[in-house]
Amino acid sequence: MKRQNIVLIGFMGTGKTTVGKLLSKQMDWSFVDTDQLVEQREGKTIPELFATRGEAYFRNVESEVIHECLQKSHQIVATGGGSVLNKTNRERMQENGFVVALTAEADTIIRRVKHDRNRPLLHGNVEDSVRKILVERKEAYHFADLTVDTTYSNFEETLQTILEAWKRRV
Ligand code: S3P
Repeated sequence: MKRQNIVLIGFMGTGKTTVGKLLSKQMDWSFVDTDQLVEQREGKTIPELFATRGEAYFRNVESEVIHECLQKSHQIVATGGGSVLNKTNRERMQENGFVVALTAEADTIIRRVKHDRNRPLLHGNVEDSVRKILVERKEAYHFADLTVDTTYSNFEETLQTILEAWKRRV
């Protein structure tokens, strides 16, 4: 690992942002959300960006901000759920951070994202979209150094699991 970062990956609604903010406080590291970096850079929200420029454009900007932010150290980086579909992104995450995948059961994810209008991939029937994308991404998060299921644990427990694994990392 070239740099000291904790990179949170995982499907939408698995708690990356919430857990990331808690971790950043606990470790006194900065918190970075790659979706937010994309929005700042483009001056548009993610739904606006998808609507006006399309997903492929979003993915390019997402890769750029991931590359840039991983040049620094001592950050908790919460990534967009689809960023791991790109091999270069995965390699950069592994090279420059301790990669933690957050998971949750489908019903939990659906409950957490149901009323959110900020996720363009979940248009139409949210439940159907989540189930379909979960199948497509079945193995996408398997490259992580640590995987934590957030279905039955609260965010505080998830935080402790990550902190302990970070301390024991090789
Ligand atoms: C996406 C997840 C979103 C955001 C965009 C696409 C995805 O981030 O990057 O809507 O492809 O899974 P969150 O995982 O933070 O919701």
